[in-house]
Amino acid sequence: MTTIGLAGAGTIGSGLIRLLNTSPAARSLRIKAVLVRDAARPRPGLPVGTLVTARSQDLTDDPGIDVVVELLGGVDEAFRVVSRALAQGKAVVTANKNLLAERGPELFALAAKHRVPLGFEASVCAGIPIIRTLQEALRADRITALEGIVNGTTNYLLTRMSEERASYQDCLADAQRLGFAEPDPDYDVSGKDAVCKAGILATLAFGAYVDFRKIPTSGIDTLELEDVRQAEAMGYRIKLLAAARRSADDQLDAEVAAVLLPLEHPLASIRMEYNGVLVDSEGLVRTLLSGKGAGPAPTAVSILADLLDIAEGRARIPGAEHPFLAGAFDLGNRQSTPSRYYLRLAVPDRSGTLAQVAGLFARHDISLASVLQPEVPDTAGGSLVPLILTTHSTSRGRLDLVLAALAAEGWGRSVVLRIQEN
Ligand SMILES: NC(=O)c1ccc[n+]([C@@H]2O[C@H](COP(=O)([O-])OP(=O)(O)OC[C@H]3O[C@@H](n4cnc5c(N)ncnc54)[C@H](OP(=O)(O)O)[C@@H]3O)[C@@H](O)[C@H]2O)c1
Repeated sequence: MTTIGLAGAGTIGSGLIRLLNTSPAARSLRIKAVLVRDAARPRPGLPVGTLVTARSQDLTDDPGIDVVVELLGGVDEAFRVVSRALAQGKAVVTANKNLLAERGPELFALAAKHRVPLGFEASVCAGIPIIRTLQEALRADRITALEGIVNGTTNYLLTRMSEERASYQDCLADAQRLGFAEPDPDYDVSGKDAVCKAGILATLAFGAYVDFRKIPTSGIDTLELEDVRQAEAMGYRIKLLAAARRSADDQLDAEVAAVLLPLEHPLASIRMEYNGVLVDSEGLVRTLLSGKGAGPAPTAVSILADLLDIAEGRARIPGAEHPFLAGAFDLGNRQSTPSRYYLRLAVPDRSGTLAQVAGLFARHDISLASVLQPEVPDTAGGSLVPLILTTHSTSRGRLDLVLAALAAEGWGRSVVLRIQEN
């Protein structure tokens, strides 16, 4: 029998308790103690005699507990619990992307020192087995690029906007009512959730620590229905992508941003709250994994899979070659990779503006592929109106010079999105 100290019995912790009670695969696992903030509140589904406690040492320091499962969320307390458990020689399983993205190198160093496994399949894309695919099957290949839809909330919003022609605000209000978005959606819609996952995936795919704080990040919070509509009219779908690729000089380019994907791109058809990760590698060429990227049931499946590996002695003990311990990547200069761009600008509603804008692009040697001024109600000449442009291939650095010149005119830069060609 493998005994578990469960740190956290909220949404995911309760899902794990349910799965442990019902899965025949979990027969050899038993929860011995549960750590929560409020130890007086009843926690349904726990075996008779389970200790419910608010003291973390009741888990980390109990020699009768083999594995600590960390489902607290946040970084500081989670780090205290996980590092103490590892130092006490216990295996750990965590679903906490913030913890690993921020403090992964310290935690894997502790796991290596104390020769215990640290499972984290559930930390990225919940139920999709992307961590073990990268760590096991794809270890035998050389990965050249990885891109993923790793945040279900933003994908749900973009899908609803695209399919129902509903505004960002209306879709967000619906998502909050249905539980697909938090009351404070900033963490999801600004790309903060996705960039933690991008850091973890890029670390595993490319073999050295990628610090998520160094990955350029933007979200979907400035997008409007007009952008979704225009993208589709041009044969693209807007998706929030976490992307990392080897550059020509063997550095790493990484980014979290909304991009225009061709409709035939494998990730363009990932709908609603589903996630998908596409891996380009030399041998397998293209591998797509997709599935439920959030929710208690899929997340609990990944946690249980890690627990079974530990219980059956199959979990890997990290060594010096573990990607979180094998040095850190310097991220490359993304500005050097040429791309096409979609821009929605806010420009004054007066004659001559179009020529002025086109002149600015020409001066910086950027060739425009299309220009569109959507009709808006008469603004009496005083305010700013949208102007939608696409460019031919150019560098981001050069585009930024144009954007700076536009800003110097006091004109708005509403949306700048990369157009991906394949
Ligand atoms: N939600 C998803 O779909 C999903 C998917 C994949 C991974 N995850 C990750 O899973 C983790 C847990 O998420 P969740 O949604 O289950 O969180 P949650 O519902 O907020 O539950 C947190 C649990 O931890 C306990 N807790 C928090 N801080 C504590 C502290 N300082 N001391 C003692 N107990 C404490 C809470 O106790 P009380 O019950 O007493 O408040 C609660 O039981 C997070 O890292 C999250 O990112 C979530």
